[in-house]
Amino acid sequence: MTKVRMELGKRSYDIVIRPGVLDSMKLQMRKDRKCLVVADHNVAALYLDKVMARLKECGANPISHIIEPGEKNKTLETVGGICRTAAQAGLERKSLIVGLGGGVTGDLAGFAAAIYMRGIGFCQVPTSLLAMVDSSVGGKTGADLPEGKNLIGAFYQPEMVIIDPEVLNTLPAFEKRNGLAEVIKYGVIMDYVFFTDLEKSKGEITPDVIAHCCHLKAEVVSEDETEQGRRAILNYGHTFGHAIELLSEFKLSHGEGVAIGMGMAAAMSVRNGLWSKEDEKRQNDLLLAAGLPFRIGGFKAEDILAAMHHDKKKAHGKLTLVLPVELGKVELFNDFSDEAILEAIRSCCD
Ligand SMILES: NC(=O)c1ccc[n+]([C@@H]2O[C@H](COP(=O)([O-])OP(=O)(O)OC[C@H]3O[C@@H](n4cnc5c(N)ncnc54)[C@H](O)[C@@H]3O)[C@@H](O)[C@H]2O)c1
Repeated sequence: MTKVRMELGKRSYDIVIRPGVLDSMKLQMRKDRKCLVVADHNVAALYLDKVMARLKECGANPISHIIEPGEKNKTLETVGGICRTAAQAGLERKSLIVGLGGGVTGDLAGFAAAIYMRGIGFCQVPTSLLAMVDSSVGGKTGADLPEGKNLIGAFYQPEMVIIDPEVLNTLPAFEKRNGLAEVIKYGVIMDYVFFTDLEKSKGEITPDVIAHCCHLKAEVVSEDETEQGRRAILNYGHTFGHAIELLSEFKLSHGEGVAIGMGMAAAMSVRNGLWSKEDEKRQNDLLLAAGLPFRIGGFKAEDILAAMHHDKKKAHGKLTLVLPVELGKVELFNDFSDEAILEAIRSCCD
């Protein structure tokens, strides 16, 4: 078993990574603590019975709330439904909401935990690769509005994150690739040795790889919990990527968007003398080996730039780019001209 500690003072917690932990989970639990397990239909069919059984063995009193899968259900209505089930079952401040599933479920369950009775206990049990290496760690919770993704939310840390890498055996390959983009991102932005390990294993996902990603994210979050500065490095590839996802009307997945965004950020760095052509090739070769694109066809560079600006306007922010300056190191830049950005995007468009 590997334990990664998220250091956040009184709100510190452990991230436990162990294959098979869902079959043998032992939690210190107050007797009869009410627990509301939230899962989507897909994950509930596979793992809900196991988790309910473990919670009962630990002395808890669990009930469940099933939601429809998919980003389109990451809404305030779904959060309201979770809170209503919590109220009807008599959950109180010391009760627990468990988010069992991918990033959508974790974000929704965490947001419900943050606002129900102004905050009750919360535990993350991520089941997608993206949720294991990224969304379950760090306390960002929330939902989408018709006006835009993740426009409402709260920073709300869980009491614990429990990761069973064995559940990845049932995760569709397409979903695995989404998580792989984030895994490779960690290597490029902050860990050269990890990057070379991924090159050797061609992006194979082991419990150690998951634990290492959690460790890297915990390091960044414990330094900058609410993204006032350094946490922004985790957005590498995302400024371009979100725009691409949006333009494709979500036909391209988040992972594909981020991977293409990494390709564009790398091109931007190389064109401006910040990064070497060799390192750009190493990044793009690794993305390719993981089945991810780093170029895009069928879109105009001007439209991608416009979508980036539109996204930023909504966030009332400047166009800040996270660009690699070494393999394992990125920096933030907000002084590039639109023309320079456009040229880099154009160089990645087929
Ligand atoms: N909070 C954060 O810091 C943060 C970070 C990154 C992304 N996110 C959010 O995460 C969401 C994306 O997460 P996601 O990619 O996990 O999507 P998701 O939750 O929709 O899960 C993807 C699909 O995989 C299925 N699934 C999950 N685990 C499975 C398993 N073990 N076996 C079989 N099927 C399984 C789900 O039912 C779903 O259909 C987005 O809403 C994004 O905004 C949040």
